[in-house]
Parts: sequence; C-alpha cells; structure tokens
Amino acid sequence: MNSVKNFIIPEKLPRHIAIIMDGNGRWAKTKGKPRVFGHKNGVVSVRAVTEAAAELGIEYLTLYAFSTENWSRPSFEVNALMALLVDTIYSEMETLNKNHIRLKAIGDLSGLPDSTRKALLDGIEKTKGNSRMTLVLALNYSSRWEIVEATRKIAEKVEKGDLAVNEIDASVFAQHLTTSMIPDPELLIRTSGEYRMSNYLLWQAAYAELYFTEVLWPDFRKEDFYEAVLAYQQRERRFGKTSEQLVTP
Ligand code: IPE
Ligand code: IPE
Ligand code: MG
Repeated sequence: MNSVKNFIIPEKLPRHIAIIMDGNGRWAKTKGKPRVFGHKNGVVSVRAVTEAAAELGIEYLTLYAFSTENWSRPSFEVNALMALLVDTIYSEMETLNKNHIRLKAIGDLSGLPDSTRKALLDGIEKTKGNSRMTLVLALNYSSRWEIVEATRKIAEKVEKGDLAVNEIDASVFAQHLTTSMIPDPELLIRTSGEYRMSNYLLWQAAYAELYFTEVLWPDFRKEDFYEAVLAYQQRERRFGKTSEQLVTP
C-alpha cells in the first residue's frame, strides 16, 4: 500500500509525541448526534494512534483526555466521559498487554471519581511490566496546576532545609513535575483546527514542534498520524542556533 509511513525515517523519530485530541463534539454535531457520541467514536482513534505509535517505535505517547477546565462542562457530559474512561481502560487492557504497552497517567488523580481512579490504577498496575511503549493519559490535568504543585514541593524542601535556593534550576524544577520520568515531547499534535495549548504541557513543550490539523479527532487515523510524524521530520529544529550551525562539519 502507498502509505505515508514509507517516507518516515526510522532514525529520526521523536521519542515522545503528545496529542490534544479535540473536535469530538463538533464531529458528533455534523452527524446530528449528541456530543457523547463523538467521545465514544474518539476511542477508535485512540486505538488506531496507539497502535500506529507502537508500531513505529515511539517510546511515549501522551494523550490529553480530560483537562482541569473540562469539569465546567455540563455534568451529563462529564459523567459520560468518566464512565467512558472506565469502560475503555478495561476493554483495552488486553490489547495493551498484547502490544506490550505500559499505561501511565498525569494530572490530579485525587480529583477523579473513585471508579475512574480505580480503573486507571488497575490499568497502570496490570501493564506496568510492559516496555515497548508508554501510553500516558493526561486526566484532570492542567499545566498551571502542575507548575504550582511543583513549586510547592520545591518550597517545602527549601523550608525543611533539604534544598538550597541556588540549587533550583530547570532540571530540578522538571524533576518535580508529574512528567519527571518522561522525556519532553518533540512533537505536539492538535486536531480540529484549533491553534492553542489549552493548558497542556506548557513547560515540557517549550521546544516541541507544533502540528495542527483540521481533522476532527474521531476521524483521525493512522495515516493522519504518519502525516504529522513526516511533517515533524521535515522541520529544522534549531534550539536557538542558526541554520548554518546545524550543518555538521
Ligand atoms: C475533545 O473534544 C474531547 C475532550 C475535551 C474531552 P471536544 O469535546 O472538546 O469537542 P469540541 O471541541 O467541542 O468539538
Ligand atoms: C483540550 O480540549 C482538552 C482535551 C483535549 C482533553 P478543549 O476542547 O477542552 O479545549 P478548549 O476549551 O477548546 O481550549
Ligand atoms: Mg474541544
């Protein structure tokens, strides 16, 4: 098959790809269905992208599943999303294990309903031995919450005398974020034609390549994912240097 995948250079893959899965509600609306129908169909995209990422050899895939701000949606939708999470974690567990994928989560898990937190912790426990790829769900997550939490933890250490103020640098700070064991994402994808970060991985994505597509999340499939990876490989990542400095002598 003539897939975009054939053009991807295996040696130039990002280690970590983060995705803002957006557009479920609009997708459902175009079909005259309730928003929750869009969320249910979004699960099909999650499966496709997870499989595509694992097959390519991506080490970390972080999916924004529920933001701290999403609590302000109608309670019917919030409840449906939480229930969908539980169902999805249980129904996908076997596939995760079959594909040697480890589940992890970032966000304020203590703020989740008990059933959702239980399913999540269960999924994390049952897949912890897998090492092919780590699938990270951002749940009840927001960057500002995470940065404030990290600041608190650091301040506590300083207060106790376990850390000196002049020891605080970017690396110490990053170690206090929920992503401390995860490398920064090199590629951040957002679907549905919105061009914003919505409080997602603001610290970690400082040097991420941003990729925006008009495709609504429930329509996003493996080929769309390959397109994003290919676009990433065609970018020049300069990290503040000039283009000429990047040419190896
Ligand atoms: C993304 O789709 C899913 C979540 C935020 C949970 P939306 O529900 O935001 O869909 P739109 O943006 O309203 O179309
Ligand atoms: C961001 O999408 C959060 C998730 C994808 C979980 P939203 O749809 O909530 O973002 P805004 O409100 O349009 O910025
Ligand atoms: Mg949205």
